Amino acid sequence: MTTFPSTFMWGAATSGPQTEGNFHKPHQNVFDYWYATDPAAFDAGVGPDTASNFYNDYEHDLELMAQAGIKGLRTSIQWTRLIADFETGEVDPDGAAFYNRVIDAMLAHGIRPYLNLHHFDLPVELYQQYGGWESKHVVDLFVKFATQCFKLFGDRVDDWYTFNEPKVVVDGQYLYGWHYPCLTDGPKAVQVAYNMNLASAKAIAAFRQLYPETTKQIGIILNLTPAYAASTDPADQAAARFAELWSNNLFLDPAVRGHFPAELVATLKQDEVLWDATAAELAIIAANPVDVLGVNYYHPVRVQRPDVSPKSLQPWLPDIYFKEYAMPGRVMNVDRGWEIYPQALTDIADNLRLNYHNIPWFVSENGMGVAGEERFLNGVGVVQDDYRIAFMKDHLEALAKGMAAGSDCRGYFVWSGIDCWSWNHAYHNRYGLIRNDIHTQTKTLKKSAAWYAKLSATNQL
Ligand code: BG6
Repeated sequence: MTTFPSTFMWGAATSGPQTEGNFHKPHQNVFDYWYATDPAAFDAGVGPDTASNFYNDYEHDLELMAQAGIKGLRTSIQWTRLIADFETGEVDPDGAAFYNRVIDAMLAHGIRPYLNLHHFDLPVELYQQYGGWESKHVVDLFVKFATQCFKLFGDRVDDWYTFNEPKVVVDGQYLYGWHYPCLTDGPKAVQVAYNMNLASAKAIAAFRQLYPETTKQIGIILNLTPAYAASTDPADQAAARFAELWSNNLFLDPAVRGHFPAELVATLKQDEVLWDATAAELAIIAANPVDVLGVNYYHPVRVQRPDVSPKSLQPWLPDIYFKEYAMPGRVMNVDRGWEIYPQALTDIADNLRLNYHNIPWFVSENGMGVAGEERFLNGVGVVQDDYRIAFMKDHLEALAKGMAAGSDCRGYFVWSGIDCWSWNHAYHNRYGLIRNDIHTQTKTLKKSAAWYAKLSATNQL
């Protein structure tokens, strides 16, 4: 039997744009705008307009989450809901009132709030006016928004995150075009990565000015995807090394160590795509490492040497250094197309312990997305999601191994508390411990919710 510490946090993660619905928002984020202008880009034409109706139904959702043993909820504040005027940082009173109600309701249900400030949801106006994260002005506007959040909600909220998966913004919005504005521009993506690191550090500096020497904590949430080389051949090894630098260390190193990896900087410089940075900005990054790290883990990457020559891709793309592939024979989450590899969670725990001064961390997302869960409904309407239970159990066993070796992991947040709307796949794949019938907005606990509640009550697998 595996036992977790009595202080271990059993939580769930969601995000504002994926749950709230667009009721009464003063502005659109990039996804709202994309859906309004091109609904066909979304699975079954379903966009973020209603999502899981958390805006109206949050009391009920939180009550169900509490029944599922969820003691901490990591969600996000939408910039486009809270702020009336991006330039001045003036707050929209309805937005502030909504988040106040939600935080109070969380606390009333015994659910600790963990608030994240950006979950892919850049205000579209800031893209249209400034190019979004390409602009250092947007960095400063983000800090204004973050400061408002700290001031408005810091009396009740101790746990904060600046960004969720900034690397997905770099890749999805600027590099590979999966997310609006769907750009495929390597040099811009490099600058965006730098600017988001800077924005995180500046927001942390603002937080520490407001709350010096308190028990409050601030961090960043990174999707770590350990890169495993296809072979011991030096070309495959070098490919995996660059994948690790570009996919993981690009945010992990500045956030925890306060500086970018020298090897990555040298490569980008040699390729003439290094970001525009000033000494003063780098000093802010150096002075403001995170207190805590959120790690979203779903899958590893298998990496081999690229099949393009270094100078053949113009303009620059990181693909000149590595190629990802699906390793034959691996267990896949077929619906989501991701390899299931719990061992990587032990590897992440070891890496943080050995190379990142054993920073305190949380598994801030981990979960299994499955299509067509109606197939698994039993006679009384409960999804029999034994596959999800097995997925969480295997990952928690792997995590426990890393913790037994001394890694300072403080909690596990399943993705997700409730079936929620997803960026490219809408409601195709379901992740929740709570099922949401999107036609009736009827919400019911799945079998995994009962399993999680028991785990949360006993700390024992
Ligand atoms: C993470 C995100 O990347 O993975 C979530 O933080 C997302 O927002 C989750 O929903 C699952 O991915 P997807 O694309 O299947 O929804």
